[in-house]
Amino acid sequence: MQTTLNVNGQTLTRSIEPRQHLIDFLREELGLTGSHVGCEHGVCGACTIRVDGEIVRGCLMLAVQAAGRRVDTIEGLSDSGELAALQDAFHQRNALQCGYCTPGMLIAALDLVRKNPDATRAQIREHISGNYCRCTGYQAIVDAIETVLLANKVARV
Ligand code: FES
Ligand code: FES
Repeated sequence: MQTTLNVNGQTLTRSIEPRQHLIDFLREELGLTGSHVGCEHGVCGACTIRVDGEIVRGCLMLAVQAAGRRVDTIEGLSDSGELAALQDAFHQRNALQCGYCTPGMLIAALDLVRKNPDATRAQIREHISGNYCRCTGYQAIVDAIETVLLANKVARV
């Protein structure tokens, strides 16, 4: 099915199998392998990407459903600098070990930073509760996100 969509600011037209999931299209057809695939059932959050500004599970959306929409992946959000503060905080706080969850976790965290700049630690935990991490125990991830929220708060006053 001929489909036109925008990926990381670039408009593309491709022939896409109607049954292909968006995350597989991004990884296999476009080589954007930064987003990972874990459960393929919408549970783990490893495949979290952004579509029209909202976070979605790339394993639960068909690629053809992205027709006419804007898709942002970890590659685009890294290159644009939008994730820079969170990436730095994750690095500083040792908020990753194997890194498998990290791209999805960063995109979920960015969503919180944009939508709830005054989030409490409990709200941070709630917001990332759909993103599983098998390594860190989450404490360092919450610390890193909180660091960015606090820095943004200081910058606002
Ligand atoms: S791979 Fe999509 S939620 Fe787990
Ligand atoms: S750092 Fe390994 S799964 Fe999160």
